[in-house]
Amino acid sequence: MHPTLNIAVKAARLAGGIITRASQDVGSLKIRSKTYNDFVSEVDHAAEEAIIRTLREAYPDHGFLGEESGHERSDAENVWIIDPLDGTTNFLHGFPQYAVSIALMSRGQLTQAVIYDPNRNDLFTATKGRGAFLNDKRIRVSNRSKLQDSIIGTGFPFRDFTHADTYVSMFTDMMRKTSGLRRPGSAALDLAYVATGWFDGFWEIGLSKWDIAAGALLIQEAGGIVGDFEGNETWLETGNIVAGNPKVFSQMLQVLNPHLTDALKSNAVKITADN
Ligand code: IPD
Ligand code: CA
Ligand code: CA
Repeated sequence: MHPTLNIAVKAARLAGGIITRASQDVGSLKIRSKTYNDFVSEVDHAAEEAIIRTLREAYPDHGFLGEESGHERSDAENVWIIDPLDGTTNFLHGFPQYAVSIALMSRGQLTQAVIYDPNRNDLFTATKGRGAFLNDKRIRVSNRSKLQDSIIGTGFPFRDFTHADTYVSMFTDMMRKTSGLRRPGSAALDLAYVATGWFDGFWEIGLSKWDIAAGALLIQEAGGIVGDFEGNETWLETGNIVAGNPKVFSQMLQVLNPHLTDALKSNAVKITADN
């Protein structure tokens, strides 16, 4: 394993331990609502602190973008992108689907990825150019060729309802054209499941960088494709993401395309910047 990835794995397992211990008594946790339906607990903070402490000890000059602590030295050559607990709502309800997600961005490129599911002890890892792994076993995206035979993961809007109607029309169309849709509640794990081939594809509107950075590298290293809703490269910026094996990916784009509003098209990034 690449030495940098090794440190990230150490950090992810440490955070996983904190989360698992806290899961024994969720009722006693201090919980705060950041915005509508956006909860954060002391566990999210403790896990992020442990991750950053571990990474900083090994790499004092690296920067960080953590969901809970924000930017630190974001202009550094190497920036870690961290979601200490992806699936907080599940965690707070005792629903066992959540994970730690850590990615390294080096000079604008994703180079290392770890997603750790403490409930199943599943460790997903990838290093750019060296493939993707689940518990040290090489993983590949599925080779299913028809969307109609595919299981597709997704995420429903639950905090920001700006695109709710658009999402519902995408959903209605997609459910008629697939074998089934799933909404487990942790985008990081959803993406890891595309990398392993358990899902054939995934889409969601408006995710954050820390939800998708690690999962996207896993998928690319597993032979899959990640794009925005027009198949372009704005996905990390906009959080509008489609992913899948190459055949399913292009069929998903065709299904989503008729539903796209201007705000969900690739050039919306530029339009916003120009305005
Ligand atoms: C959330 C989960 C969820 C997705 C949300 C994310 P959080 O992350 O990934 O699946 O639908 O958009 O914000 O807040 O639990 O870290
Ligand atoms: Ca998240
Ligand atoms: Ca989180």
